[in-house]
Amino acid sequence: MEGFRYQDNELYCEDVALHELPEEFGTPLYVYSKNQIIQNYRAIEEPLKDLDHVVCYALKANANPAILKILAQEGAGADVVSGGELYLALKAGFPPSRITFAGVGKRDDEIEYALKSNIFTINAESAQELQVISRVALRLGVKARVTLRINPDIDAQSHPYITTGLKQNKFGIPAEEAVGVFKFAATMQNLETVGVHAHIGSQITKIEPFVEAANFLTRFVTSLREAGMPINHIDFGGGFAVQYLNVLTHEALPVEPDNAVVPPLRQYMEALVPVLRESGCSVWFEPGRSIVANAGVLLTKVLYTKENGAKKFVIVDAGMNDLIRPSLYGAYHQIVPLKLQTYEHEHADVVGPICETGDFLARDRVLPKSKRDDYLAVMTTGAYGFSLASNYNARPKPAEILVNGDRVRVIRERQTIDQL
Ligand SMILES: Cc1ncc(COP(=O)(O)O)c(C=O)c1O
Repeated sequence: MEGFRYQDNELYCEDVALHELPEEFGTPLYVYSKNQIIQNYRAIEEPLKDLDHVVCYALKANANPAILKILAQEGAGADVVSGGELYLALKAGFPPSRITFAGVGKRDDEIEYALKSNIFTINAESAQELQVISRVALRLGVKARVTLRINPDIDAQSHPYITTGLKQNKFGIPAEEAVGVFKFAATMQNLETVGVHAHIGSQITKIEPFVEAANFLTRFVTSLREAGMPINHIDFGGGFAVQYLNVLTHEALPVEPDNAVVPPLRQYMEALVPVLRESGCSVWFEPGRSIVANAGVLLTKVLYTKENGAKKFVIVDAGMNDLIRPSLYGAYHQIVPLKLQTYEHEHADVVGPICETGDFLARDRVLPKSKRDDYLAVMTTGAYGFSLASNYNARPKPAEILVNGDRVRVIRERQTIDQL
């Protein structure tokens, strides 16, 4: 089932006409398709069947408890980056043996929580962090399973803010120092070094950097084994791209200038399996965006339209506090009406109510003409949408809705002003 589509000029999520939702639940409103989430997870999972693997959902993309439960029930593992995410993963039912804890700045209490929860592994990012993990493990009287994150210096060719595997990025242990750090870890009695980790970035639209990373890790595992360190676990990270432009096509919609061809998920996985299988390791993946991004939209209402000189503005009730990706990364999200009522297009910026010029959802965009009280959908906002939302300008966070067929469920109530 397609998550979102037009039927009779009305935008649907599964079997629900989206224009029915704002009246009951208000806007801004995040709406997710349950079946699209499941379909995306399975598209990653199925091509991996000949590889010893675990697909760990990266909670940072969207940690709504109802979404976590769907993925835990599908059999996914969890990639967490904080004590809070670990708490949510455990509560949603992810088995501790399928949880990995990443992140460049873990606090001692978060390490203690991970060790007490007996998760599969903590991904350490420096020799100093190994010492801290060892000290906490010693105090608790346990042995800590650790995986070392390597910075392979591979260019993911993505946005600089979400490129993580280059020398100048804060992440991981430099490749040339890595063998030395593995040897150092082996000297600590309270540590068991189980594997090697790399995550080179997010929204990576090319397959080549992934294949390069897979080759790097496979070669690296071989060199560790030759040095007497038997490693059997690779954590390959996430980063698979999704399509943001021309997600919906219709004769009433403008065609967007798309120059980034995004390979289907299956194609990424099929390219990686033969290389990673060579390693003889159990391979874990940490996709976030590719599981939830196209399963979510942000509904917003047009408050005003106005022209300042040469420029037209469509002022909507969703701002950068609800969806920061356009302001933060210049990210592009297709914006479409819930009801297609016109073939007329206009050139406009879609902006929010926040007191910042950087508060925009789209800039210099050709859009179907809109007027006060129209409803719009900001597409492909299931990942890094609500999870990056804030209360800036003392604006309550939006509600979240899950659609399953023709059923609609509130999976997070709208914040109220007395909760601010
Ligand atoms: C260590 C790690 N794993 C996985 C992910 C998820 O990446 P994506 O959502 O692009 O799949 C991230 C994202 O930043 C990350 O830092």
